[in-house]
Amino acid sequence: MAGRGSFSNKLGFILAAAGSAVGLGNIWSFPFEVGAGGGAAFLVMYLIFCFILCFPVMVTEIAIGRKTQLNPAGAYAALGFKKWKILGILGILSGVVILSFYNVVAGWAFGYFVELLSGNFDIGNQFGSFIKDVFKVGGYAILFMLATAFIVSKGVAGGIEKASKILMPTLIIMILGLVIYSLTLDNAFKGLSFYLVPDFSKLSLGVMGNAMGQAFFSLSLGMGALITYGSYVGKDDNIVSSAAFITLADVGIAFIAGLMMFPMVAYLTDGTMEGAGQGAGLIFTVLPGAFQSLGPTLGVVIGSLFFLLLSFAALTSTVSLLEVPVAYIVDEKGVRRSRAVWIMAGIIFALGLPSLLSNGYSAFFSSFITYVGSENATSFMDFAQNVANDTFLPLGGCMISIFAAYAWKTKNLNEEIAKGYPGYMGSFVQKYLNFAITILCPLVLGTMFLLTFLQTFFGVNLF
Ligand code: TRP
Repeated sequence: MAGRGSFSNKLGFILAAAGSAVGLGNIWSFPFEVGAGGGAAFLVMYLIFCFILCFPVMVTEIAIGRKTQLNPAGAYAALGFKKWKILGILGILSGVVILSFYNVVAGWAFGYFVELLSGNFDIGNQFGSFIKDVFKVGGYAILFMLATAFIVSKGVAGGIEKASKILMPTLIIMILGLVIYSLTLDNAFKGLSFYLVPDFSKLSLGVMGNAMGQAFFSLSLGMGALITYGSYVGKDDNIVSSAAFITLADVGIAFIAGLMMFPMVAYLTDGTMEGAGQGAGLIFTVLPGAFQSLGPTLGVVIGSLFFLLLSFAALTSTVSLLEVPVAYIVDEKGVRRSRAVWIMAGIIFALGLPSLLSNGYSAFFSSFITYVGSENATSFMDFAQNVANDTFLPLGGCMISIFAAYAWKTKNLNEEIAKGYPGYMGSFVQKYLNFAITILCPLVLGTMFLLTFLQTFFGVNLF
């Protein structure tokens, strides 16, 4: 493992990668993206992206990682393609940007744990003032970054791996419990139909672009995080089935988070679903009220535990996000690991300050930029998300496919995948993966990237 990894070999790759994938993306951003994207039409696009386009990219990233045992930038170079190093560096930079705002949202989640523990169910109505309170949220965000850095510097061999084996299933069980509860609420059915019955008239290029960005973000794809993690996969492990497991687990958890949320939204809006598209505040405004209706004691227990577990899920993701730039400066610049961790954590925290300030505290960052053709200003944090999630990750995924198919060559990719998967050569899986990597992903991801990029940032509508 090149002596730089922080997960024990024993843990195996799956837990680490699933821990990376499952996080705020599933429980915070997935529901609000579905809400903003008009419901089921978004869900359908999201599923198509995850299974048809992202899955082959995931297999490819893991294969490159196992082959090279390096960070993304080093990996392309090690395969003999120095010029492709830039792709790795772009990926690492996207990870840095993602962690900078992700850490702020993780601070919200942890802050909600504290608020609900103290019985403040009204926090749902105070969301706007809560995220504006930069000293409070900043404090939680500092704590979160410290915890992340501490884990990455110590290695996660002991505590966090074992803890996540218990805590993740607990979170899933809680969400399932809340699904059952929310299905008993008035108007639950209207929420379900919003979520599950597609109205394709709501489908637009913007919605498709967001579904694509969300798929990459939630699966931790497109920046090389899984290249770094691929070095934990044993030579006789089956990359395809591991990737399938990670994809199914990640999509499954996002899906049940939606089942939990939309009946609640329907209940709170008397079935109108107005407010489902409110954006980043969705779970933070809706859930506290639902916890309150469980009664004072149960509400405090379930509510605070929920946000504590959500923070924990976020922590296994922030760890993976920090690991990538750290591995890069350790491998390529020869910086000592513990130093690398604290330097990167400090830089990324500082880069997160504009995001922290962009939720009402600073007018400048809150209305940071107005895209051409748009009436409303976009906050710095939303801008960072648009740039990283919706632009760089899909572009990265597209380029990784092009790299594997045309530079490294499909033959070498296949050889790496076939280790640990005896029947691979000649199978349907092989044919599909090769088709996806050589044609489908470059074409669809490339086109989608171009179209959404032009539309989001320049208001150019080619349709
Ligand atoms: N997938 C994580 C989530 O859903 C976030 C994340 C972790 C990520 N590592 C990543 C996103 C690497 C993109 C790239 O919360």
